[in-house]
Amino acid sequence: MADQLLSTAPDYHSLPENYIRPEDQRPVLAEVVSDAHIPAIDMGAPDRSHVVSQIGHACRSYGFFQVVNHGVPVELMLRLLVVAREFFHLPPTEKAKLYSDDPTKKVRLSTSSNIRKETIRNWRDYLRLHCYPLEEYVPEWPCDPSSFKEVVSAYCKEVRQLGLRLLEAISLSLGLEEDCLVKALGEQGQHMAINYYPRCPQPQLTYGLPAHTDPNALTILLPDPDVAGLQVLKDGRWIAVDPLAHAFVINIGDQLQALTNGKYKSVLHRAVVNPEKERISVASFLCPCNYAIISPPERLISEGSPAMYRSYTYEEYYKKFWSRNLDEEPCLELFQS
Ligand code: OGA
Ligand code: NI
Repeated sequence: MADQLLSTAPDYHSLPENYIRPEDQRPVLAEVVSDAHIPAIDMGAPDRSHVVSQIGHACRSYGFFQVVNHGVPVELMLRLLVVAREFFHLPPTEKAKLYSDDPTKKVRLSTSSNIRKETIRNWRDYLRLHCYPLEEYVPEWPCDPSSFKEVVSAYCKEVRQLGLRLLEAISLSLGLEEDCLVKALGEQGQHMAINYYPRCPQPQLTYGLPAHTDPNALTILLPDPDVAGLQVLKDGRWIAVDPLAHAFVINIGDQLQALTNGKYKSVLHRAVVNPEKERISVASFLCPCNYAIISPPERLISEGSPAMYRSYTYEEYYKKFWSRNLDEEPCLELFQS
């Protein structure tokens, strides 16, 4: 119930037992690479074909990149972070009204990741919202803070446009028609997870989010400008992402890995927590429409590169994803052909 939320709990001085990972599953923070960078791409650069080829390179070799000059007003990004923080600082009784651990609910405040399935908790609360079409969902969103609906809906519209532009560039970078992936994904859904990672007394024993891949098509993350925490797996090592000012962090989700027949990877990433500061991040997920059939275009299948996955609908995938625990083997492996 709502008293499970970390953001309404007392300030812990040591980690409660059910958050402590066994020794071989802990984040070995001393081994994290802090001086490497994921690619940063200037989307406002005049030479579009260069932007497209940079995106292609980033998707092939990292599955992750940052974008600047992305067209989303910086002021809106900052306002979103403010309302997100205000929301998690609301009194417990306000937050209790929105609490649910049922993943099928379209507006819900929850904790960890999927507490019905997991045995060890993660040091995170999150507000998860369905965001498209906005008219359908905004009435159910929180009314408190009073600017929540206005700020979050303006942000959702902008981020969707950015996502669609990225999908066009990703299509071109694969030698496909510009609208190929957007067509394959159908009328895309859009979800948002506003993540709140409180200050954690023993960050070396737990995660905000353990290593996972995202089950959707494309993720657009607005990271906390002041507190790092996202880490990405590259060649067997964890790289700490140090976001540029006003940048978004973009990653390929499982559905783009399947649609590109494995050419672009949905890469493992995780969030670690901080001993001094709380951290906020806002993930926007573009999701194929439920009945979109996930199957790569002919051009990406050849004798040397046979179909890696059987075709399936996104609805089937999404149900499977939420029936499991985030720590298990990647969900996409269950769909191999
Ligand atoms: C996610 C995620 C990372 C972060 O919400 O799927 O990976 O830095 N978030 O919060
Ligand atoms: Ni993620």
